[in-house]
Parts: sequence; structure tokens; C-alpha cells
Amino acid sequence: MKRFTIAHISDIHLPLESIQFPKLSLMNKRFLSFLSWKKRRFSLQKKILDIVIQDITKASPNLLLISGDLTNLALPEEFKQAAEWLHSLPFQNINLIPGNHDTLIKTQWHNSHAFWTPWSQAYSFDDYPIITHYGSVAIVGINSAIPTIPFFANGQIGKNQLERIKYALQKLKQEKLFKIIVLHHPPMSGIVSERKALTDRVKLQKILYKEGADIILFGHVHKTITKKFMDTNIPMLGIASASSNSSRPNYQAAWRKIVIEKQEDHYHVYSTVRSLNKNGDFSQTHSFYINHYFQ
Ligand SMILES: [Fe+2]
Repeated sequence: MKRFTIAHISDIHLPLESIQFPKLSLMNKRFLSFLSWKKRRFSLQKKILDIVIQDITKASPNLLLISGDLTNLALPEEFKQAAEWLHSLPFQNINLIPGNHDTLIKTQWHNSHAFWTPWSQAYSFDDYPIITHYGSVAIVGINSAIPTIPFFANGQIGKNQLERIKYALQKLKQEKLFKIIVLHHPPMSGIVSERKALTDRVKLQKILYKEGADIILFGHVHKTITKKFMDTNIPMLGIASASSNSSRPNYQAAWRKIVIEKQEDHYHVYSTVRSLNKNGDFSQTHSFYINHYFQ
């Protein structure tokens, strides 16, 4: 495929109001998260998400990429609700990875993440990273979501997955594919507080630095962020929640459009953030262009 278009969204936190669940299932860390959801339920809204999805649909991307937190409390009913929502979307390809809310407590695979296998391609947590090929573009989906103690939202990739990421990137480098890394937690310090950070980020940084990546995408922060990874030219891009009701710049509901065009010996990459402003219109910001040569 000469031209490949990705729509990146994150942290949609589908509404809890629309599902029935046993109150007993809140007798754990979920209870605190339930209280915090009650406090911020109006700051995330499904009707906003619907507007964002409509805008993405008009752009007809080749792939919708979701970097986690589709749920609030990781309830089985929420996984089913998200699966129904994913089924209803009009996109030809959808990839997703889990966020910390999707692994809030230890759940049984068959009653939770198994509902998302058609879009995650994962049959167990040991399957990560998941590599999905689209012509000369490879999506490297990393799972950084782990259950944590109350008031913490840390991420961890783990020794075994880090090892698999290293080998996967080495293979993709040999194949000269365009590598898009996607994970829920930002892989650098200074973006979120320590209690929300990726604990083994330095180990991942070493691997990405050595083996190379072309774009790094993340969510978790509910903020649109455009940065470079360490001292490299690799774009490291975060996106606000697609359900956000905020009118604050960078926290407004948004999606990022990434267009990758393969040329003779290099790639042209365009990135645009479309944010929903308080008038209900989309404004375009943070565009950039890179010219990436095959190494
Ligand atoms: Fe998160």
C-alpha cells in the first residue's frame, strides 16, 4: 500500500450508566475507581465520542488505533459493551491495546479481554507485543497495563515482553518496515507523576533507542502531546481522551490523523490533530512532516 492513513484515539472510557452490573463486583479497588468515576463522569461523554467518530469516518482511515482505557472499572459488562461498540464502527481495520483501567484488578481472561480478541489479536497477555502488518507499515502493540494498588495507575511491560519487543523490532528492522509503537503509558519521564508512570520505561527506552522505531503513540494522560523521543527525531505522540468534554487546549476531545506515504527510498509522514473546540467545530493543530529515509 503506497498511502496508509491511521486515526489514533485513546481513553474513551465508555459510559458506565448504560450497563447493569452487580454491586458486589465493586468490593475491591473498583470501589475507589467507581467514586472517582462518579466525580468525573460529566467530563467524559459518549455524545462527544460519537462526534469524534463521525469526523474520523469522513476521513475514511485504513486503520483506527485505540491506545487503551475503553472501560472504567474493567467489569465483564464493560468489556462486552466495548465489544458491541467496536462491532458497530464502520472502519475496515481496528487495533487496540489495553490501558490501566482495563486491568484495574486481576480479571479472568475469558470474562474480560477475550471479548476484544477480534481487535487486539491477543489470546493471552503472553501474546504481547502484537505485531500487525499493513503492507510496509507494522504496528507494534505493547501491553503496559497491570493491576495496581489503590490510588496508583502505574504501568509495567515486564521482562519477558521486553525481550519479545527487542526481537520483534530487530526483525522489523531487517524487513525495512515502518514501525509504529503503541502503548498506553508514555515511555518517558516527566509526562505523568510517578504513581501513574511506566515503571520499567528505562528498559523500554534502551530497546527503542537501539533497535529503532518510526513513531511512538500513547494515551493515559488525557492530553494531546507532541514530542520527540529522547534525543532522537522519533515523534512521540499522545492524544487527549476522545470522549473529553473539556474546553481546555490540549485536553479537548481529539483524534490524530497520521498519513504515511511510501516513496522510492523513504517515507513521507504527515500528522494532524483534530480537536473538538467549544463551538462544536474541529480545529486542526500540531501538524508536522517528516521525511524518513530507509536505514
Ligand atoms: Fe490510563
